[in-house]
Amino acid sequence: KTLEKGAVSWQSPSNIALVKYWGKYGEQLPMNASVSFTLKNCNTKTLLSFEKKNSEGFDFEVFLDGKREVSFEPKILKFFERVEVSLPFLKNYKFKIKTTNSFPHSSGIASSASGMSALALCLMDMERQFQPEISEAYFNEKASFLSRLGSGSACRSIEGPLIVWGEHPEIEGSSNLFGSKYPFEVHENFKNYQDTILLVDKGEKQVSSTIGHDLMHNHPFAEQRFKQANDNLSKLIPVFKNGDLPEFIKIVESEALSLHAMMLTSMPYFILMKPNTLEIINRIWKFRNETGSNVCFTLDAGANVHVLYPEIEKKAISEFIKKELSQFCKNGEFIEDKVGLGAERI
Ligand code: PMV
Repeated sequence: KTLEKGAVSWQSPSNIALVKYWGKYGEQLPMNASVSFTLKNCNTKTLLSFEKKNSEGFDFEVFLDGKREVSFEPKILKFFERVEVSLPFLKNYKFKIKTTNSFPHSSGIASSASGMSALALCLMDMERQFQPEISEAYFNEKASFLSRLGSGSACRSIEGPLIVWGEHPEIEGSSNLFGSKYPFEVHENFKNYQDTILLVDKGEKQVSSTIGHDLMHNHPFAEQRFKQANDNLSKLIPVFKNGDLPEFIKIVESEALSLHAMMLTSMPYFILMKPNTLEIINRIWKFRNETGSNVCFTLDAGANVHVLYPEIEKKAISEFIKKELSQFCKNGEFIEDKVGLGAERI
């Protein structure tokens, strides 16, 4: 089949890791397995329009919220170069990539997972127009594979609610090449799990995650860290099954702090947490001690705090966040999100 011109559009969410990916080798392959909740409200919508061309080389333009955004183009060029072997039609088309995020651009929320997965899905959608016979499973697997080449963690955004990425001896079907659905039983305590993202610092990160991953080469604690992450994923298997929230909290918070401990002990070392990050963590611990709540936190490679809690605590925790935690956010801002089911064609 030949395609002269057309357009495809996908919406893809962000995700939040419970066991963190930090350290990679080869072409965006993880040094340890990770697992994440797919989010629902934080997402990117991408419209990819394409037109056949005869000239050589890659040809694309990127628009964010309707405005040309040349600063994104080097990253996307690199992505095109990496995926071309898997999508041989790329050089035959001129592309316009029009993208919008549901969350504020400068919020400090990484748009790379949602953005790269949305683009990968649009390209996969074109591929399916050439090969309509491919299965849904193949489509998702290859979309995840391609997303990974854009941004490692993006490969966990295609489906939901719980996605594993990275070979793990106890998780059948797990692969370093793509993310896949967590294959075992998940207790209903984790259904509709809530994630309120507290926007502590909206500035550009001082150290990109690319540099952070690189610093895990020759890191004094690297081997221990990769083992710890795989062990934590093993420990989560019974926790997901029996709904043991206190155990879940221990693992998730320890993962967040271990991720940042790697940054503190890199050479050069760096700190992405801010004073308000620590203030929020201490308030969460105090609240949990005083009330017996199952609220906990996790962190990405930045100062923002993800506040995780079961759906039945929604009312109490929303109040706690508004009254006590929002004062530590830039302009009092936070985003209420929860676990979602993955990307959608639009
Ligand atoms: O996908 P990257 O290369 O931006 O790495 C993201 C890594 C963390 O967000 C810090 C952890 C994770 O597993 O998502």
